[in-house]
Amino acid sequence: MRRGILSLTAVGLLTVGGVAACGDGEDTGPGGATPKVGVILPDSASSARWETADRKFLQAAFDAAGIQADIQNAQGDKAAFQTIADQMITNGATVLMIVNLDSGTGKAVLDKAKSQGVATIDYDRLTLGGSAEYYVSFDNEVVGKQQGEGLVKCLADKGVQNPVVAELNGSPTDNNATLFKNGYDSVLNLKYESKEYTKGPDQSVPEWNNTEAGTIFEQMLTSTGGKIDGVLAANDGLGNAVISVLKKNNLNGKVPVTGQDATVQGLQNILAGDQCMTVYKAIKQEAEAAAELAIALAKGETSNVDTTVKDPESGRDVPSVLLTPKAIFKENVKDVVDDGYVTQAELCAGEFAARCAEAGIS
Ligand code: BGC
Repeated sequence: MRRGILSLTAVGLLTVGGVAACGDGEDTGPGGATPKVGVILPDSASSARWETADRKFLQAAFDAAGIQADIQNAQGDKAAFQTIADQMITNGATVLMIVNLDSGTGKAVLDKAKSQGVATIDYDRLTLGGSAEYYVSFDNEVVGKQQGEGLVKCLADKGVQNPVVAELNGSPTDNNATLFKNGYDSVLNLKYESKEYTKGPDQSVPEWNNTEAGTIFEQMLTSTGGKIDGVLAANDGLGNAVISVLKKNNLNGKVPVTGQDATVQGLQNILAGDQCMTVYKAIKQEAEAAAELAIALAKGETSNVDTTVKDPESGRDVPSVLLTPKAIFKENVKDVVDDGYVTQAELCAGEFAARCAEAGIS
């Protein structure tokens, strides 16, 4: 099917404007060739989402449109990232969608693609100083705010007085990690300033490395003599690393820990009472919005995106689609299952069957 002008709203709802006309064969791009989209995912260790959700939903969206897509994963290797991009372009990709490993190397990839006439999209992470035509993500400051507010709620529910709060931030080279921190610090700083909370250790985890997160948190716990009452962990992987350390110290379940991504592991930690909350981002919507834009670009069409995000480095207003995240606590883990993001079978396996039943997931 051929489409006219696409317009995407801030909440990512797609409305198709212009006249829709039916093509009588394979979709063709501007030069008459089969459009090809290349997607580079960052790794498979910093979060389960990239391989279990993003790849699946992106592939499905391209398949549904009959667009050839090549989805690869750089496995955290910046040199491999560039090589994959070069190969995709050599193999005829006309659109490149990336989740950068850092802004510097991401920018090099985007600029090179642009110089070769390849359209580009920043997927999930904005490449600072970059040249992508579009940016598709969630409102990442809201993600952080939900984490901050979530931790406040969990500490209040436990009746903890004057808690010492530790912060375990995401990768310092991921602009999202900066936005998440802006979000949760907007909540927590007020608590520190009013002396309601005491600010504890605050550290970033290079490349969101889960193993390193465990080591960092061990050191945090040692340096405070075990006096940490709540942990703002920026995603479920970091949160799980924290929980593993808390378990060794018999502190799991007593010290609330946050997360993000609604991974099976994160949700199970919530059901077990070891994690306070996670942030669910409907990756299906994100993948579909990005694929819709990529498909339009591949066909040489223009898309009207009515939101922009200012790149703080270049000052450029980047046309963006920003979706809305949702805070998940034990009471509404069910929503993630109902949305089809995780299956009941995987979440409620083995010892979690009873916990699922308790949480109304059956
Ligand atoms: C993503 C998160 C993810 C993290 C680690 C961030 O840029 O927005 O969903 O947990 O990277 O991969």
